[in-house]
Amino acid sequence: MQTLDIARLRADTPACEKLIYFNNAGSSLMPQPVYQTVLDHLALEQAIGGYAAEGQAEPLLEDFYDAFAALLNCDRSEIAYVENATRAWDMAFYSLPLKEGDRILTVEAEYVSNFLAYLHQARRRGLEIDIAPCDASGQVDLDALERLIGPKTRLIAVTHIPTQGGLVNPAEEIGNIARRHGITYLLDACQSVGQMPLDVRTIGCDLLSGTGRKFLRGPRGTGFLYVSKDILQQLDPPFIDLHAATWTDARSFTMRPDARRFENWESYVAGRVGLRTAVRYALEIGLEPIRARVTMLADRLRASLAELPGVTVRDLGRVRSGIVTFTKNGEAPPEIQARLRAANVSVSVSSRTSAQLDFGRRGLSQVVRASVHYFNTEREIELLCRTLQQA
Ligand SMILES: Cc1ncc(COP(=O)(O)O)c(C=O)c1O
Repeated sequence: MQTLDIARLRADTPACEKLIYFNNAGSSLMPQPVYQTVLDHLALEQAIGGYAAEGQAEPLLEDFYDAFAALLNCDRSEIAYVENATRAWDMAFYSLPLKEGDRILTVEAEYVSNFLAYLHQARRRGLEIDIAPCDASGQVDLDALERLIGPKTRLIAVTHIPTQGGLVNPAEEIGNIARRHGITYLLDACQSVGQMPLDVRTIGCDLLSGTGRKFLRGPRGTGFLYVSKDILQQLDPPFIDLHAATWTDARSFTMRPDARRFENWESYVAGRVGLRTAVRYALEIGLEPIRARVTMLADRLRASLAELPGVTVRDLGRVRSGIVTFTKNGEAPPEIQARLRAANVSVSVSSRTSAQLDFGRRGLSQVVRASVHYFNTEREIELLCRTLQQA
């Protein structure tokens, strides 16, 4: 394992001095260069106006697409900036040519807003939803998923890492199944991007959505969508504007030929350049070393939690991520969160309304979520566990 310069990475993250931060799956801490990029752009907007500032930021704005192409192993024309992961995912989903009776195949750990979109479209357009169960490990059962494919299955849509647990779904194996059956594959990579390498060609997904503020450590209000060139022409965005299309004659228009047909003309330019810096920062550290350290820390945290009396680690799956979830006898997750917060330890709580299928099956109502990133340390893990024990 390549060793990371943790002291330097922590120096880039000034909050580490005061805060023990385990909410990277919620919204991570921006490293100094990302924060500075956003501030510099806002200062430029204040000094010369938003349009002129955007003009000056052109090289960085263009590099946004190259940076994501390097991050995901795709072409720059396959990337769109979207303001968050939900809207990026929505732009993909609502663009698909689905009609009454078509079936969507998804998983029990699917992200709440994605599942709400299925329910919405099931009610409005008569789409049908199939849910692949988990195997004994808790990841999606690949055989069961494949058996659920029928002649009307048009979409396989999967959350790579659910928001409410450490599980990593087998994205690549699902991609092989989708390819074998010629079905469109949409991957929600919101929690995986930035904490592990992602290669859209190896995964075999047609569409992939993500956010800026989580493991990528970008600013809030930023996200992106990857759209494979092979599928782009079949996708009709749910709404377009003068950036997505050109009004060519009184009654005609042409759509942009690239993934930017999913963008808006107006956007948060400081956020876009900030997210570009965040991607370059992650690439410079290296996604493989990031994964190795996040896995090491998360495993350490799970092992330490498991030793505490009354504490149960709730993570499922064969492969696990930087998201660690647990419960403790006699103390509700929000109480634990508040007690940890008083000790400057930041964690979050996941609730059943975000995971009806997953928590329903497991009989859980809430869990504490402690999500590690590479800048966390073993000492911080000890402090979290010690504070937890002091109830
Ligand atoms: C798996 C997953 N998908 C999508 C989202 C939504 O991301 P955003 O808030 O950027 O829309 C989240 C946010 O927690 C998530 O965990």
